[in-house]
Amino acid sequence: MAQRYVMAIDQGTTSTRCILFDHAGRMVSVAQREHHQYFPQPGWVEQDALEIWRNVDRTMPKALREAGVTGDQVVALGIANQRETAVVWDRHTGTPVGRAIVWQDIRTEQLVQQLSQLPGAEKIRDRCGLPLATYFTAPRLRWLLDTVPGLRERAERGDLLFGTMETWLIWNLTGGPDGGVHVTDATNASRTLLMNLATLTWDDELLAFFDIPRQLLPQIRPSTETYGTTRRVVPGIRIAAALGDQHAALFGQTCFDRGETKCTYGTGSFLLMNTGSTLVRSTHGLLATIGYQMSGEPVTYALEGSIAVTGSLVQWFRDNLGLISSAPEIETLARSVTDNGGCYVVPAFSGLFAPHWRSDARGIIVGLTSYITKGHLARAVLEATGWQTREVVDAMTADLGAQTPMLKVDGGMTADHLLMQFLADVLDVPVMRPMMAETVSLGAAYAAGLSVGYWPDLAGLRRNWHLAARWLPQMDPAHRDQEYANWKRAVELTIGWAAP
Ligand code: G3P
Repeated sequence: MAQRYVMAIDQGTTSTRCILFDHAGRMVSVAQREHHQYFPQPGWVEQDALEIWRNVDRTMPKALREAGVTGDQVVALGIANQRETAVVWDRHTGTPVGRAIVWQDIRTEQLVQQLSQLPGAEKIRDRCGLPLATYFTAPRLRWLLDTVPGLRERAERGDLLFGTMETWLIWNLTGGPDGGVHVTDATNASRTLLMNLATLTWDDELLAFFDIPRQLLPQIRPSTETYGTTRRVVPGIRIAAALGDQHAALFGQTCFDRGETKCTYGTGSFLLMNTGSTLVRSTHGLLATIGYQMSGEPVTYALEGSIAVTGSLVQWFRDNLGLISSAPEIETLARSVTDNGGCYVVPAFSGLFAPHWRSDARGIIVGLTSYITKGHLARAVLEATGWQTREVVDAMTADLGAQTPMLKVDGGMTADHLLMQFLADVLDVPVMRPMMAETVSLGAAYAAGLSVGYWPDLAGLRRNWHLAARWLPQMDPAHRDQEYANWKRAVELTIGWAAP
């Protein structure tokens, strides 16, 4: 019998990848395409949902071709996606009403301020686990309905559909205007500010608060379930799982037990701890979210520390400042000096996310003297990722009353040894990276494979996790405390910068 595979689509902030996995959880082929980022005004970030759909259309067949595999050898497709990015489209034509508004976009800052003054605002966090902030989807959707002429009427007539990227792709893959399935999974729905975290349903009071017509919204389904079968691109593949990319990474890191924690270092960085069947409501600036929901099983919750800008700070250093020509060069440049020379970079480009939630913060470089070289700046850029992680780990420790004993890491930035050592130093715990660092796609594949019985259980998946590298803390505690105090002072300077 021909070999069978699982396919994963990782629809991320900067690119779309299609990856085939075999039964041992090994990558068999990868096809990737980047998409454009549009920055029409300061703080605005947009993408073209049709371009992303075209990239799926190209990468799926390419991944199959490169592996010499046919569609009928693929037992299931799992989708992981950038979360919170909003797409609204015409259900009759499949045409988006405008560009997708990306999770980093802060155009809703004023709207969020106004909403936070309304009665009912104080209940939001309790209902959906999230603070009222520009990061999440509902204010974006409200902004579109208020701003684009005729949109609200079309939405109320039932002519429009809303979704995050997994919803958009599943709808298109299952037929688009010709019978496409309009669904989301519980992890993605948990990022909208509209889902009740206890019942896993759209919450009437939250819909009323944000004034969102229910007709726009997809059905909320478990993360592992067959939503439909592809009718376009490569027909006949069961779409058997969908998860927000960070939840997929938690799954791919096999953090299946309560207390297990991972941090994924991509455009931003997202630290998630599995809290099992307990919904832990943070009082220190973290998010309560869904870890994953397996079909027919109780939901698994998670606590999350979201950091908006980490890898994208390195991109900014490369593209906007031109101080390196490729992202990995930052490590070499940072190693050209022995310390940060007193310089700190706080990348509050989208305001500050966890644990601060200040959309009025803006980025800062402090401590400049004529001594500072681009090497010091490179170090400060990398260190910003370490300190931001420390802040969310501290919040988690305060919420739970105990520190995580170690951190599993993944994502592109984990190739940077200087950064990983710094991370172990500032967290004062071991940092571990698995052999398979593509945990987002792996998690989507695992979820889809489990969903169709390709893999029997979680225990088998856990055996596929192999340690590739470990970094142990080495920094002198007094030095660490001093540096952290400096970082915190720098953070204070960013807060309120954008206020009128
Ligand atoms: O919440 C945003 C997050 O899902 C984006 O992840 O890896 O696409 O930058 P990434």
